[in-house]
Amino acid sequence: MSESSGSSPAGVAEPTGVGSYFVANYPPFSVWTKERVETEALPALHAPPSDGVPLGVYLHVPFCRKRCHFCYFRVYTDKNADEINGYLDTLVREMEMYSRLEAVGGRELDFVYFGGGTPSFLSSRQLDGLVARLRAIMPWDAAREITFECEPGTLTAGKLSVIRDLGVTRLSLGIENFDDRILDLNGRAHRSPEIHAAYDRARALDFPTINVDLIAGMLGETDDTWQKSVDAVVKLAPDSVTIYQMELPFNTTISSDILNGSGRFADPVADWATKRRWVGEAFDALESAGYAVRTAYAAVRDPVTSFLYTDRLWQGADMAGLGVASFGHISGVHVQNFDRWETYSGAVEGGELPLARAYGQSDEERMIREFILQLKRGAVRSEYFRTKHGVDPGQRFTRQLASLRSAGYVSTLNDEEIVLSRDGLLRVDTLLPGFFLPEHSGVRYT
Ligand SMILES: C[S@@+](CC[C@H](N)C(=O)[O-])C[C@H]1O[C@@H](n2cnc3c(N)ncnc32)[C@H](O)[C@@H]1O
Ligand code: SF4
Repeated sequence: MSESSGSSPAGVAEPTGVGSYFVANYPPFSVWTKERVETEALPALHAPPSDGVPLGVYLHVPFCRKRCHFCYFRVYTDKNADEINGYLDTLVREMEMYSRLEAVGGRELDFVYFGGGTPSFLSSRQLDGLVARLRAIMPWDAAREITFECEPGTLTAGKLSVIRDLGVTRLSLGIENFDDRILDLNGRAHRSPEIHAAYDRARALDFPTINVDLIAGMLGETDDTWQKSVDAVVKLAPDSVTIYQMELPFNTTISSDILNGSGRFADPVADWATKRRWVGEAFDALESAGYAVRTAYAAVRDPVTSFLYTDRLWQGADMAGLGVASFGHISGVHVQNFDRWETYSGAVEGGELPLARAYGQSDEERMIREFILQLKRGAVRSEYFRTKHGVDPGQRFTRQLASLRSAGYVSTLNDEEIVLSRDGLLRVDTLLPGFFLPEHSGVRYT
């Protein structure tokens, strides 16, 4: 089994080893199978949806100016304009197929997420054309949140106003760090002047929410550079700040370099204790500036700022995941698309849903999934689980919670709620496998 985000006991050196991962879903991806597409996913997609479950759409735009050395997403940096336009046509066809499925067609969209890769890599013309075609198939006028991920160096003033006119409510900027040397060392395409230009233009256009992403533990990061990035983000004052601790899944360039021993990157990634300390320091600084910590990864300036995408997914919402390698979740069944360009496009062009693997969860697995994902908020309301799942989490997980409490990771444990301490919140991804069913606790995660 791979290491989950620094799993050593406190006090022991915790290097960031290759194969670390972020617990984004449950059961582990390695138990999803091709066979279950026929036996579980297709029947669910051809059946009516459950009452009252919100529906969202995720659209994967897998293009970037450069591949960052730490990136683990499915991205392409070598596609020409014809290939990109062909991919957008495929996305539209895939949405048409979803709109004809009984589980999806005719439903209102609650949220839309343009993720990547880099959606802002697309030209204004491509974006306008794509969105017009998508909205003609599945209107999103009633959607409460439309998120759009951007790499700062791709945002011209003209493109930003097109993005604003598309109805985007949450603009997310991948800043990662403000230090040009660190951005360069990690293979980022943008530099700090582009951050400030993009942010100022976005502010002037009055997006309802601007989020910025930072990563704690990029190559070359020191206490001093981290402090400067935190100061810079506080000064920028975005509505939301997301901070990830650097992961090294197997498919990053840094991971290959470590495994091959090629020594291309002289600076190591900081250990887990240091990354947690850096996120903790950033949260302290943001709280002093008036922000509230909302999850293990995010702080918001106004406490009413929500991030519907995670809120909904963490409560078991349906989501159609469109695009190469995308993940979806419909009526309790997980699905993932083919993760190769040719196989994905070939399936859609051949008139088939491009599903590579699936997993239909049992009622207990659904409950566990929601519980571990909601723990990422730092507090779980027991009533939600009693009402929705007929389970009291304090009783169902007595043993695990007692042990987390004695380790100092749980600060409140009563009939109403389970609250993590700040120390527990900063290492939440290491705690979650402890709640997996026994048959999932020894298996590979991805
Ligand atoms: C799809 S990217 C965001 C948009 C755009 N592609 C960009 O990077 O600016 C999503 C985010 O994942 C985070 N990320 C990528 N690789 C990571 C890694 N190895 N560890 C932690 N976070 C990572 C980065 O913060 C990045 O902003
Ligand atoms: S982190 Fe963002 S910009 Fe960098 S390669 Fe990954 S998706 Fe592209």
